[in-house]
Amino acid sequence: MTVAYINGEYMPLEECRISPMDRGYLFGDGIYEVIPVYDGQLVALPYHIERLRNGLAEIKLPIPWSDEQLSTILTTLVGENGGGFQGLYLQISRGAYPRRQHAMPAEVQPTLFAYTFKIAPPSDGNPATTSVYKVITGEDMRWNRRHIKTVALLGNVMHMQEALDAGADEILLFTQAGLLTEAAACNVFVVHHGVIKTPPLNNEKLAGITRKMLLSILRQHSGLPVEETNISRADLEEASEVWLTSSTKEIGPVVTIDGASVGDGKPGPVWHTAQTLFHIHRLDF
Ligand code: PDD
Repeated sequence: MTVAYINGEYMPLEECRISPMDRGYLFGDGIYEVIPVYDGQLVALPYHIERLRNGLAEIKLPIPWSDEQLSTILTTLVGENGGGFQGLYLQISRGAYPRRQHAMPAEVQPTLFAYTFKIAPPSDGNPATTSVYKVITGEDMRWNRRHIKTVALLGNVMHMQEALDAGADEILLFTQAGLLTEAAACNVFVVHHGVIKTPPLNNEKLAGITRKMLLSILRQHSGLPVEETNISRADLEEASEVWLTSSTKEIGPVVTIDGASVGDGKPGPVWHTAQTLFHIHRLDF
């Protein structure tokens, strides 16, 4: 049984209820986080709380919970679900208001919902036991505030389905100007002429926590050149390795792009170094 937390109570997930007038349901008016849990420990929790607060500030959603209270709620939930390896989903919406109106109501109690789900123990860098990904490419058709981790993910859902309908696992998205933004549910790294590159942060992509951790780990521990820089379609074609990063995938090697192999079509040596270092340092944050 999965235990969830909703508005002050821990209860079986299937017993959780919200009002159909909740603005998260009507407008996608809310912010979420997905936090990995390894060996019962929430990974990079301060980074996730910081991003959550940035998103809430962007959408002008004040919350009554302190960082300590959020941390206690989430840690208790992980314990209620037996620790170990889990993913934790947390969503804060603006709450239920009796009228459907676009204007943000001043007097409304936010809804805090969280639950956990089982994940496989993360990769230690062994290519034989690591999931690999096939991707397609396409134009990024989402809105212009992609740095906000909003629950309004229809644009991402449509892009992900585009990938699945094409027999792939993910889609690498490009601006009209031909620059890589991210994937439907991941950030992207490439190895280009020996340099590890990922696109710089701006309104066109999410500031992924795995991205942030990986950049920090690589800069501190790998000695390899790392750059936050624009990546064109031509750069992608020349890349010897391409990786997807997210809280649930960690560093996922991409083996084909639009049907063509990346490198020799297997997880590459730089990926091996990166994932091995990530495995060692993932709980440092
Ligand atoms: N997705 N970009 C997008 C659009 C994402 O949805 C995600 C994560 C990321 C990576 O962020 P992080 O490293 O903080 O997980 C980048 C989560 C896992 C999800 O929606 O399930």
